[in-house]
Amino acid sequence: MAPEIMKGLKDVYLDTTTSSFIDGEVGKLLYRGYNIHDLAEQSTFEEVIYLLLYGSLPNRQELADFDSLLRSNRRIPDEVIQVLDLVKNSHPMDALRTGLSALSAFDPEVTDNSPEATIRKGIRLTAMGPTIVAAHHRLRQGLEPVAPNPDLNHAGNFLYMLFNEVPDEETTRLLDVDFILHAEHGANASAFAARVTASTISDLHSAVVTGVGTLKGPAHGGAAEEVMKMSLEIGQPENAEEYCRARLESGGRIMGFGHRVYRAEDPRARHLRERARALSEKMGQPHWFQILSYVEEEAMVPYRSRGIHVNVDFFAGCIYYLLGITDDLFISIFALGRIPGWTLQCVEQFEDNILIRPLLEYTGEMDLSYVPIEQRS
Ligand code: ACO
Repeated sequence: MAPEIMKGLKDVYLDTTTSSFIDGEVGKLLYRGYNIHDLAEQSTFEEVIYLLLYGSLPNRQELADFDSLLRSNRRIPDEVIQVLDLVKNSHPMDALRTGLSALSAFDPEVTDNSPEATIRKGIRLTAMGPTIVAAHHRLRQGLEPVAPNPDLNHAGNFLYMLFNEVPDEETTRLLDVDFILHAEHGANASAFAARVTASTISDLHSAVVTGVGTLKGPAHGGAAEEVMKMSLEIGQPENAEEYCRARLESGGRIMGFGHRVYRAEDPRARHLRERARALSEKMGQPHWFQILSYVEEEAMVPYRSRGIHVNVDFFAGCIYYLLGITDDLFISIFALGRIPGWTLQCVEQFEDNILIRPLLEYTGEMDLSYVPIEQRS
């Protein structure tokens, strides 16, 4: 009897987790039991990293100590800067993947897969990730990398290293919220891929590198960049109707819509929608938000009954663009936010490990006769 094929592993439960809870029917997301809305409105990325890695909210002292630990781990070895210089013409995600991989050569605990060491490594990778992305971005422009600034928080320091300018509080908070919203999301493709790597009892650096490679695709983390490209092609709100009709009628997809798990609106989108609206008005460029609104409120309305709504990536690209961030950096920002989530998934995988190794049903030919090369036509 032919086995049942669970194509794309859709709706398959792979294991249990205490990392995040997703109810796709109602659009609910919890990190370690806490609602994403409360975290986006009241928390900080530093606190969310702590929550994910240690399982509970920190008190003031714990948060201050944790924040200092992150700040003190931001510098990357000169050798890694040299590697980034060698690959400066590559896509920022490829450079991030290479840089994170290179860090393994300098991490004294690289092969220690105990929960404690994995968390320590995850903290280092979270702290150093922005330094890699910013250094590569500077190098590819022929500029010197900017050293991390310990007076700034995680989001503010990243913007500072990118632009060599201390960002204002509002801009810093925008990126802080964006990092919170991207920090963890169950068995999504990149976390699953990271878990597969961890399940071979490889190591966290390898698993995070796997996660970065998997996140890169437009069906996953690449959607924000594609949404902004679409907005730029549309140009003005009055062109949106024709553009969407042509795209959808030819079988194309509108990026930033649809999700494997959510049948209701992705709860993370709400926080970026309001911020994209406010920012586009503040910057005197309201047409970008108007284009997105048209797509959401008009073109994609018929898709709602099929469970296709905006996802977290729909408004993110507009925010990054208005902050002056180059479009090929968008996915890297997602990846920087997700390192704590990948770390937690690996801690869980290592703690109760089983090799992840599904089956494929063979549908090719059987028992063919081997023909020596000189007898082949
Ligand atoms: N625009 C138009 N139609 C869509 C869209 C979309 N964005 N997404 C899904 N559909 C349609 C498909 O055409 C398909 O229609 P059909 O049944 O008539 O063939 C149906 O909805 C189901 O689509 P699948 O691709 O089978 O659904 P799946 O759950 O595998 O896909 C995915 C989820 C890959 C995210 C998909 O919705 C998509 O391609 N979206 C655009 C890319 C995107 O925004 N990715 C970011 C995801 S969120 C994240 O990673 C953070």
